[in-house]
Amino acid sequence: MLRPSRQIRIIIIFLCIGFSLLYLKTPKDHFINLDQFKYTLSGATYINISALFNHHISIQNDPLLDILSHKAFSNNIYDVTVFPYFRRKSHRARRDEVTLTTWATYDRFDRLIDLATRNQGTISVVIWIPPSDELATPQLIGLENLIRENSAISEKVDIHLVTSNRPLLHNTWRNIARSFATTDWVMLWDIDFIICTDFQAGLDTFKTSGDEKWVKQLAEGKAALVIPSFEWISGTEYHSCPKNKQDLVDNYRELKLDAFETSNPVLSHATDYTRYMQTDQPYKVTNFEFSYEVYAIFRKDINVWCDERFAGAGYNRAACTASMYLSGMDFYVLADQWTIHQPHKSTSFEMRNSYDTAVSWKTFRMDLCHSVADNLAIQGLLHSTEGERIRTLCTEQEIPEINVDLSRLLRTSKEVASHMST
Ligand SMILES: *[C@@H]1O[C@H](CO)[C@@H](O)[C@H](O)[C@H]1NC(C)=O
Repeated sequence: MLRPSRQIRIIIIFLCIGFSLLYLKTPKDHFINLDQFKYTLSGATYINISALFNHHISIQNDPLLDILSHKAFSNNIYDVTVFPYFRRKSHRARRDEVTLTTWATYDRFDRLIDLATRNQGTISVVIWIPPSDELATPQLIGLENLIRENSAISEKVDIHLVTSNRPLLHNTWRNIARSFATTDWVMLWDIDFIICTDFQAGLDTFKTSGDEKWVKQLAEGKAALVIPSFEWISGTEYHSCPKNKQDLVDNYRELKLDAFETSNPVLSHATDYTRYMQTDQPYKVTNFEFSYEVYAIFRKDINVWCDERFAGAGYNRAACTASMYLSGMDFYVLADQWTIHQPHKSTSFEMRNSYDTAVSWKTFRMDLCHSVADNLAIQGLLHSTEGERIRTLCTEQEIPEINVDLSRLLRTSKEVASHMST
């Protein structure tokens, strides 16, 4: 689940190829007219959501794609159905551009306009639609209007619809948005963050003037670039960005601005804000801890996915970050980039839907430690330098089950290594 089995990886690759072909084949002005799904009941007009989601499968007209998309996304534990490329951007992105990947519910459509307006490049967004015709109809009509009235959205945003009986499957939505991104680079983003800097420029600068070894790692999918996140703690400018790095540093020193989630420092501590304030050069994250969350740029095709068992608020982004770091990826902080968290309204969708259950954080850590350690052990590497990160971080969790598992895998690792050397 954490690092999907080869079978799932192959399915995902097939899907990406399949949908890319579909993308090339389909004319850009091909739009699905919602009128064909409308029906009237007791004087009110509704859109038939199941017919809409079924329609996408039939337009592919390809039994293999049909079965793969069912296998990957439908009838999973949370009963997810996906309609990829419900609306396609009119702009054609270059392969080396960064696609911002995110997800939204209807009450955050204003944030989507803001993202599309501020962001230079393209966006791949997953939009959750409730599985009830009555609730979904006004949301879909609102979405249509949004696309019609905002050229930034019609030009730059690929919209993928999803439906399931729960809205907050953050990691499933993130993985879907990434699967259908049309460029080689993605930015793992959240809709509540304001785009303050040009992160395409951040990536390009890093690629041309960064440390050669780091640049190579990044290109091989073994590193990610971190955009540090902040929040205003005083003042009235909650919706604005610092004008430049110096302005940011000044506000930080005057305690008007702080690291995002200062009340829970483990979420952002590893970014090392003190160092960030003092440098304009990228630097490596050296104090990773479980619960650290990154807003990061990386290759679309990295072999790590966000654990889709997380449902509801909490730990989901930390799980993505931990899966990346423990798999061996390094994080480099971009010292000339920043983003600001925009506080939620208390009436937000998320607050009203707090019934979701998630896989426990402890189960996640046990599974992640096991799967990464197991993979290293069978190569005879767990007890060597390659295994150092996992040995240290997983032991620090003080979960007895992990320690028992690690000791057993360490013995396996040594045995495998001694067989290889004889
Ligand atoms: C909606 O579409 C499905 C087919 O996808 C059909 O079985 C169902 O009867 C439709 N519902 C309404 C209310 O028209």
